[in-house]
Amino acid sequence: MVTTERDDNLLTDEAVRDPYPLLDRLRETAPVHYNDRYRSWMLLRYEHVAPALKELRFRSDRITPFIENRLEADAPDDVVTTFRVLQGWMVFVDPPKHARLRKLVSRAFTPRAIAALEGRITEIVEELVGKLPREGEVDLVREFAYPLPAIVIAEMLGVPPEDRDLFKSWSDDLSALVFGELEDDARHTRAAASMVALVEYLEQLCHRYSAAPDDNIISALVQAREGGDALTQDEVIATCVLLLFGGHETTTSLIGNAVLALSHAPEVQRRARNSERVLRLAVEEAVRFDGPAKFVPRVIEEPFEFAGQAFEPGQRVLLSLAAANRDPRVYDDPETFRPERDSLQQHVGYGLGPHYCLGAPLARLEVRLALEALLGAYGHITAIDSDVSWAPVLLNRVIRTLPAEVAGVGRA
Ligand code: HEM
Repeated sequence: MVTTERDDNLLTDEAVRDPYPLLDRLRETAPVHYNDRYRSWMLLRYEHVAPALKELRFRSDRITPFIENRLEADAPDDVVTTFRVLQGWMVFVDPPKHARLRKLVSRAFTPRAIAALEGRITEIVEELVGKLPREGEVDLVREFAYPLPAIVIAEMLGVPPEDRDLFKSWSDDLSALVFGELEDDARHTRAAASMVALVEYLEQLCHRYSAAPDDNIISALVQAREGGDALTQDEVIATCVLLLFGGHETTTSLIGNAVLALSHAPEVQRRARNSERVLRLAVEEAVRFDGPAKFVPRVIEEPFEFAGQAFEPGQRVLLSLAAANRDPRVYDDPETFRPERDSLQQHVGYGLGPHYCLGAPLARLEVRLALEALLGAYGHITAIDSDVSWAPVLLNRVIRTLPAEVAGVGRA
């Protein structure tokens, strides 16, 4: 096993603000290495990350080993509940079991069902943009990018508007657990209490929509059938919690990071304002250029070799989507936000293979409508760079504040 002393702290203020110089250095000097600081293998080049996402021996279930080996036998009930729910998330379930869950949930999450949301999402977007100042300074995360996906996913699930704030606070507590490291006990305790409250709440919604189905995801999940098979209530609830997460912070960050990239590229901003084609490409390029997922974790169950290295059971592997998406072997001028690039090479910002982001069509739709509304409302959006901040988390790129100067009218 190769271990070296190296500058690899991804949680310094500097690296949280801009992880790319460090990721570039690691990708170029140590593309496949065991990282002592994060007690994980790290894969950083596109040529390794893309096939690794499809390699089933890099397992996604890191919850069962945690429950079996690390969770204390006398752990409080709410902590046990939390891990049981996480165990039901398809993102942590490996093939072949994964296919069953994915198929059933996909029935409620079809591209057509997502496209049908366009009208309602447009209304929510316009309502939020209508509350923003016409000019001056505004935090576009707090006032726009954060509330938007929370409202969209809560509505999609069938959560009544009066319960939205409750939903938001549970989600905040849980995200610290999911997007941070799994090690911290204090975080487990806080997240666990929120998880129990959320599960109880979702159980009530499940009963309500089983008895009287409506046009929402819980009703669709309860009714989803695949050749005599259906989701259990626990699976429906675990999936709702997963969608709540998958649907929230990632989308907030993608909107924020895309606005920031557009702010630094005024010419692209101008073109995206006037062309839906460029706007759509900008949404995709934003996932490559500064996507919400920096790393996805995997674990090793059986020994095998990959990229010339031997991987041993119990080891953790971090696949760096962020480093792969800026690999100069694949993308010309990777440090430039350029929606109309020649290279059609698929980015890995939504993952690849069996776990490819199920919510990608929803993310694309929401972010396009969000940017369209902002670019339509303002002729100029200029981020106040010194005040933009990100959460100090390893796996994701979570934007916390995006103060910007807004002015002018985008489209009459
Ligand atoms: C906004 C940008 C988003 C990004 C960058 C993103 C990224 C990802 C990535 C990288 C994965 C694969 C994880 C892995 O391989 O371990 C994933 C899976 C998933 N995402 Fe997203 N996501 C986004 C939005 C959403 C939304 C809006 C939803 C739903 C409301 C969603 C739901 C899911 C689900 C259910 C999975 C698990 C799929 C499976 O395991 O089969 N995501 N996402």
